[in-house]
Amino acid sequence: MKRFAVFGNPIQHSLSPSIHQQFAEQTGISISYQKILAPTDGFAAAAADFIQQGGSGFNITVPFKLDAFQLAHQHSAYAKIAGAVNTIKIQGADIIGENTDGTGLVSDLMENLELELNAKTILILGAGGATRGILLPLLEQNPKRLMVANRNASKALELSEDFSKYGKTCGFGLEKIKNEPVDIIINATSASLDNQMPAIADGCAAGAVCYDLMYGKQTPFMNWAKAHGARVISDGLGMLVGQAAASFEFWTGKKPDAQAVIQNLKP
Ligand code: ATR
Repeated sequence: MKRFAVFGNPIQHSLSPSIHQQFAEQTGISISYQKILAPTDGFAAAAADFIQQGGSGFNITVPFKLDAFQLAHQHSAYAKIAGAVNTIKIQGADIIGENTDGTGLVSDLMENLELELNAKTILILGAGGATRGILLPLLEQNPKRLMVANRNASKALELSEDFSKYGKTCGFGLEKIKNEPVDIIINATSASLDNQMPAIADGCAAGAVCYDLMYGKQTPFMNWAKAHGARVISDGLGMLVGQAAASFEFWTGKKPDAQAVIQNLKP
């Protein structure tokens, strides 16, 4: 039986063990998958222990994705550009780092919500680690324009410049968002954690797909989207399952059915 785990702090409420067990049943692979609470300054030691005990791979969540990047000997293109790792595969003596967050988002948007991203206008709110992790997979779908808007405008500008070689992207302050509709708005700020809504023009939501990367509660962003005429409103549950599916495939070579698991987890 292959051993997997997820490291985080906190980790108690992680859905990953349940998601991966469902993937294992679907694909007929026998796995164990545990939650590991590492001290905030003790990720490397906890990960080394798990590897020593024969672990085949693990996921990494807040606040250890940068530590996991440091731990990996090799990095995929997505991990490199994100500067963060959410999935590690142990291959002999090698520790291989991958980042499946963006893949998870794109698969949820395209396969589950059945959206086309090609030639669409996408507005991302926030310019932190979450945004950095999703930009390349989104740009690979060839949107018409990908705008990054942030409270601190210079962070948005810097981030969009880092990614400009991959597609049409630009960055500016939240106050520069026009009062006119866009196709897709992705809330990648941490405002939902504080029960807040980024201050933006209401008119951009009309007819839009509004997607919050957070899951597990109706966020102020989702309420705002509803109040201002969004066409589709989603939390990030499908992205969570999508990133897990991409990790599972990275480890086992088998592609699980994410949609079935999303349906099982929906309240
Ligand atoms: P993460 O890894 O989740 O992206 P982060 O790197 O700390 O976390 O970034 C948090 C993002 O949410 C930032 O873009 C932050 O904006 P600033 O760079 O201007 O601080 C954004 N953010 C947090 N709270 C916000 C709020 N109430 N309104 C708007 N943006 C907010």
